Formats: sequence, structure tokens, C-alpha cells
Amino acid sequence: MYAILSTPHFHDQAQQLAQRLNLPLHTEKSKDVFFYLYYDEKGLNLIATHLSLGPLHLDFNHGALHQRLQRASISKEPLARAVGLQKRSNLRICDATAGIGREGCLLAFLGAEVTLVERSSMMVALLNDALLRCADPKIEHVKLIAADSCDFLSTTKERFDVIYLDPMFEAHSHKALVKKEMQYLQALTGPAVDADALLTVALNLKPWRVVVKRPLKARSLLNKKPDFCLSLAAYRFDIYALHLKM
Ligand SMILES: C[S@@+](CC[C@H](N)C(=O)[O-])C[C@H]1O[C@@H](n2cnc3c(N)ncnc32)[C@H](O)[C@@H]1O
Repeated sequence: MYAILSTPHFHDQAQQLAQRLNLPLHTEKSKDVFFYLYYDEKGLNLIATHLSLGPLHLDFNHGALHQRLQRASISKEPLARAVGLQKRSNLRICDATAGIGREGCLLAFLGAEVTLVERSSMMVALLNDALLRCADPKIEHVKLIAADSCDFLSTTKERFDVIYLDPMFEAHSHKALVKKEMQYLQALTGPAVDADALLTVALNLKPWRVVVKRPLKARSLLNKKPDFCLSLAAYRFDIYALHLKM
């Protein structure tokens, strides 16, 4: 289903990646492979052979992701307020559903110490490449973990002030992600059937806050009423403020 495509000037890099990810290295596209990772002069790209979409390439130095960061401020970003960056600086945040890293890197850019966790090996490869190329020191220091967050959060010795969850849903109403990125995420990862379990593990760690992004009309995860809700036009943040109960 996945493979690495070797391109004329980037064979060595492609070969190393194929070895690292333990994936076959192809010199031509095959119909049997749904997703190829390949290098070009910009860095690493993902292409889906069964979707009529252009390649997915993550870049925090230029383009839409970069522009979004340049415009960001704690007061203007609802996610920054939901995680509590206006109340506490130097928050240690685990973004347990990293995706394309847009929101995690936004939080890092606004001053948080961020650990991204992502279970899709394709997304991890793209994120890793984008972080290595990133010229912004605030984002350069973002940590990336390739793991299922249920496993990671149940075994980690690290302490987090905030755990942020943005699981994928079938009827997802993420206006915030542009269409191509959303389609890639959906095709690669599908709906997060373990989202309730993820909230259980996050709450068990008793961080200062757990924040969950939900479609506006969807039930809360675990049907658990949040302590606060921050509602926007297309989605809301359910905020579990655990310090209130201690
Ligand atoms: C909707 S996307 C998140 C988008 C992200 N907030 C962003 O700004 O790019 C959901 C992502 O979470 C990942 N994911 C879902 N459940 C996970 C789990 N239990 N462990 C690790 N990653 C998970 C999926 O693979 C997918 O990439």
C-alpha cells in the first residue's frame, strides 16, 4: 500500500528513507501502491495514486502554513486560549493527534514547548522532513514522536501541562484545514475509532488541561461534559480543566 519512489536526483535519499521506514523502493509508480513518498528539490512529498490530488508537502518556512504562523497571536487564536496560553507561559503541551502539525506548531510558535505524537508513518515522515527544514527556532525545537498516543501517554514519564486532541471524524467539519490536506489525512488515517479511549488515557495523566476539538454538534468524547466550551463557527473546543477538581 505504501512505497518510496526514487527520483533521478534523489536516489540516495529515497534509498535511505526506504530502509528507515522498511518500505519498498520503486523506480516507477505501480497501481498496487496507494501512496508514494518521494523527494524533490523542495524536500519530501506524498502522492496518492488513487486520488486526483496534487502532492502533499509540508513547509513551515513558506506558503500557507508559514503565513498562518506569521499572523498568529495568543489573543487571536482560539486554540491558544483554549489551552490556556494567555494564563500560563512555557506550557508543556502534548499534541496527541499531530496530523500535518499545523496546530501543534502554532502552539510552539506562540511560546509552548510542544511534543507532537502521530501514528501514521507517512505523516510522521512528512512532518519530520518539514521540521528538519524549518528555520524558525521556536518550531525547530518541537519534538516529534512516531507512536499511537494511547500507548505513548500510558507509558511516558514526561509531564505535560496540556494534552490536546483533534481526532478525525467521518463527518468532519474542519473548515480550518484546506481541502487537499484534509483529504490526505482522511485517506491515510480514516476515522479515529479510539478517540474515547484517547480521552480516558489523557485524563488519567491529570494534566492541567485536556482540550478536545470537536465538530460543533458532535457529542463530547466519552459523553463527558467539559468544564468549559469554546465554540466557533464550525467546531468547538471541549476543555477539561483538571486543576479545578484538585
Ligand atoms: C484531524 S487530524 C489532526 C490535525 C492536526 N490538529 C493539525 O493541525 O494538523 C488527526 C490526526 O490524528 C492522528 N491520530 C488519531 N488518533 C491517534 C492516536 N491514537 N495516536 C496518534 N495519532 C492519532 C491521525 O493519524 C491524524 O493524522
